[in-house]
This record gives sequence, C-alpha cells and structure tokens, in this order.
Amino acid sequence: MLVFTFLLLFLFQANASCPSGNVVEWNSNCYIFQTNVTEFASAEISCKLMAGNLVSVHDAFTNALLAGEAINYFQQSTENDFWIGGTLLMHAGNWSWIDNSIFDFIDWNKGEPQNISGNGCISVSTVNGAWSSQDCFKAKPYICNVASTTPPPTNPSYLNCSLGWTYFQPTGSCYGVEMPNPGKLNWTAAEEYCEKSGAHLTSIHSWEEYSFIETFDAFAWNGHFWIGMFSNDGGKTWMYTDGTPYDYEHRDDEHCKMPNPRCAACGQFGICTFECTEDRLFLCKKKAHF
Ligand SMILES: *[C@@H]1O[C@H](CO)[C@@H](O)[C@H](O)[C@H]1NC(C)=O
Ligand SMILES: *[C@@H]1O[C@H](CO)[C@@H](O)[C@H](O)[C@H]1NC(C)=O
Ligand SMILES: *[C@@H]1O[C@H](CO)[C@@H](O)[C@H](O)[C@H]1NC(C)=O
Ligand SMILES: *[C@@H]1O[C@H](CO)[C@@H](O)[C@H](O)[C@H]1NC(C)=O
Ligand SMILES: *[C@@H]1O[C@H](CO)[C@@H](O)[C@H](O)[C@H]1NC(C)=O
Repeated sequence: MLVFTFLLLFLFQANASCPSGNVVEWNSNCYIFQTNVTEFASAEISCKLMAGNLVSVHDAFTNALLAGEAINYFQQSTENDFWIGGTLLMHAGNWSWIDNSIFDFIDWNKGEPQNISGNGCISVSTVNGAWSSQDCFKAKPYICNVASTTPPPTNPSYLNCSLGWTYFQPTGSCYGVEMPNPGKLNWTAAEEYCEKSGAHLTSIHSWEEYSFIETFDAFAWNGHFWIGMFSNDGGKTWMYTDGTPYDYEHRDDEHCKMPNPRCAACGQFGICTFECTEDRLFLCKKKAHF
C-alpha cells in the first residue's frame, strides 16, 4: 500500500475540471475526500449537493486508490475508516450502491459483513482497504464521486494528411501508403515500408474503424490487404505492430481456414489470417499531427 500511495501522489493531481477541495481525478471521476465526519445519510446528501453520490466501488484498483489516498486526506480523523456508497438501506437485505450502479465487486474484511441489525452501511478501512458493515448513524469521513467535466478528447473534424493518406476523425489517424505505392509486398516488407514513413501496418479497434478501412478494399483494392495483426504462437494470441492491443475481433473464419496462421489481412467479410510470405496490398496507419 505504501508503494502504491507513493505512486499515486505522482499520478493524480486535483484538476480544474473537478470541484475544488481534496480531489483525486481518475477516469473522468472526481473523488472528493470529505474530512468532516458525518452519518451515512447526511454524507450522501452532501455529495448530492455537489451533483454526485457517495462513491461506488467496482474494482480492486479503485478500492486501493481510494483507501490509499484516504490515508493522506483523512490522517487527522479519529476514525480509521470512511463511508462509501454501499448500503442495505435501499433494498432491505441486499447490498447495493446508492448511485444505483451494479453491485458487482466486494472487498469484505474477514468475518464481514456481520449480520447485525442496524449495521447497514459499508465503510472502508484506511488500514487495509477492506470493507466492514457499520452502523449507518456513526459519524465518519466519506468520499463523494462527482463526474469530471473534462470533455473527451476531440480530434479535428478535417485534416489534410499528406498525399496518399486519408484522415479518419474518430481515431485521429491517417491511413494509406506513402507514395510511390510499391504495390504488393509480403507482410514483413509491408510493415517495413510503413515504418519508413513513420507509420505501422494498420490496427483495427472498432466497427467504425473496420468500416472505414474497408472502404479502401471496396473502392480500390478488391482483395485482402495486410494489416498489422500478427501471432507468434500459431494463432493462439494476436498483437499489432503498432503496440496497440488486439481488442476487436471481426474474423472471417468462414472464408479463411489457414493452418498455422501468423499474419492477418482485411477483406470484405472481416479479418483473415494467412502465411506472412504471400505478397499482398497493405494499409499503413499513423497518428495525425494536429
Ligand atoms: C466542516 O465543518 C465545519 C464546522 O462545522 C464547517 O464550517 C465546514 O463548512 C464543513 N465543511 C464541509 C466541506 O462540509
Ligand atoms: C434481494 O436479492 C434476492 C436475490 O437476488 C432477490 O430475490 C430479492 O428480491 C432481493 N430483495 C430486495 C429487497 O431487493
Ligand atoms: C440476518 O439475521 C436475521 C435475523 O437476525 C436473519 O433473519 C437473516 O436470515 C440473517 N441473514 C443472513 C444473511 O445471515
Ligand atoms: C493538402 O496538403 C498538400 C501538401 O501537403 C497540398 O498540396 C494540398 O493542396 C492540400 N489540400 C487541401 C485540400 O488543403
Ligand atoms: C519479403 O520480401 C522481401 C523483399 O521483397 C524479401 O527480401 C524477404 O525475403 C521476404 N520475406 C519473406 C519472409 O518472404
């Protein structure tokens, strides 16, 4: 926890897009550490006044983040735990989050939650981050979560990529082949050609990106063209040459049944895998400069 806290001090700074105060901004959330101790319901009301809620916790990272930061912000507190938004009060007998998000993560301490009438609210220990069920009328510091007002990054709607390249706003990237287009190459040579122009064979991460990329196929190339997807273990796991994760599967397993495939190409029915030695047209992708 110590190392973790140390790291966080570097990573998180209060930001203008969050309310002022003891704030940690993370993933468009403003976590506001409220040092004034109060009972659970008053804590929620005070969060509501900031257009937020007592924080709900959905993963171990967030739990560790909150508990780790709480050590700093709540160090004056005589309590060694703080309220988060978990409670039995809304659905008698069942734990739920007061912001109505799914109750999909727990981090109960050993022996918790104790089935003691009245202990219907979740507090987090600043000692180890574990949860316990507590009397909702106890006064504790608490953490509100308010949505950050940082706008999502927007790419310019129009950009003039250099000749041979086409801009696609959703990804903020230019797609194409540096002129003069060398035509068909094997996969390795194609990637090398892309790298010479500061690009990589294209990666594909969404349906809209696939659809955009397919326009190159439909209008000009009419066949499978190399993309940056490759496998080092005979097709069990896949990667992209630009270092982005293989997170979009739109495979055309019906039309391509290649044993031991290592390289991928894109066609009108999806992504096919092939031997890397075949010569094919290819498509490069590079981040546009705004
Ligand atoms: C905390 O409590 C003090 C004293 O009651 C009050 O003056 C202050 O406004 C409170 N702060 C918050 C953030 O509620
Ligand atoms: C509590 O959860 C159980 C099982 O999921 C469900 O059957 C029951 O209706 C829930 N009770 C309330 C008050 O939400
Ligand atoms: C909690 O205790 C009540 C009675 O005190 C009992 O009816 C209920 O079944 C218990 N719930 C659990 C989950 O043990
Ligand atoms: C785009 O930039 C090129 C030079 O890189 C220039 O020749 C061309 O006219 C520009 N096109 C537009 C539409 O601005
Ligand atoms: C790919 O093509 C290049 C140049 O055309 C050639 O030198 C290289 O041996 C080829 N590699 C494979 C694996 O076929």
